[in-house]
Amino acid sequence: MAEPEIEGTLFTEEQVKVQVSELARRISEDYEDGQPLLVGILKGAFVFLADLARAMEIPVEFDFMALSSYGSMTKTSGVVRILKDLDTDITGRNVLIVEDLIDTGLTLNYLLRNIEARGPKSVEICALLNKRAANKVEIPIKYEGFSIPDVFVVGYGMDYAERYRNLPYIAGLKKQP
Ligand code: PRP
Repeated sequence: MAEPEIEGTLFTEEQVKVQVSELARRISEDYEDGQPLLVGILKGAFVFLADLARAMEIPVEFDFMALSSYGSMTKTSGVVRILKDLDTDITGRNVLIVEDLIDTGLTLNYLLRNIEARGPKSVEICALLNKRAANKVEIPIKYEGFSIPDVFVVGYGMDYAERYRNLPYIAGLKKQP
C-alpha cells in the first residue's frame, strides 16, 4: 500500500518484535513475585501493550487511562485532563505504566505524580520510544525500548490525524508543507 506521507521505516516489524520480547523478559523477571497492573495510556499504547503482555510469562492485570492536554497553556505547564481514569483501586499494587512514546515527558510527569498519590506499592514506566532530545523534564524510565531522534513517528499504535496506527512497523512522517 503506497503511503505518500511516510518518509521511511525507523524500526521494522522484526526489530520491534525483538525489542518488545526483551522488555517482556526483563519485566517478567522483575515481577516474578508481584503480579503487576499494566496501565496502558490510550490511545497510542494499545498495540505495544498487547504485544508486550503476550510476550510476558507472568500473570498480569490490565487497566487503561486516556489523557489529553488542556490546550496550549498545558504544553508548558504539563497539566493534563483525565478523559478516562483507572477502574482499579491501585492502593498497594505494583503499577507498570505502559506508553508508546515519551516526547516532552510532561504527560508522564503529571501522570506519575497523580498515580503515586493513590498509594501504590510501586510505580514504574515502560516506554517503547523516547525522544530524549525533546524531554523537558526528567522521567525515570525503567524499561525503554528505543531512543529516537526528534522526528514525527507513526505506526505501531501511533498516529498522524488518527491514521497509521495499524502499521505493523514504526515510520517517520514527511514534514508537512
Ligand atoms: C502521545 C503519547 C504520550 C504523549 C507524550 O499521545 O502516547 O501519551 O503523546 O507526549 P509528551 O511526552 O510530550 O507529554 P498523544 O497525545 O499523541 O495521544 P494518542 O496516544 O491518543 O495518540
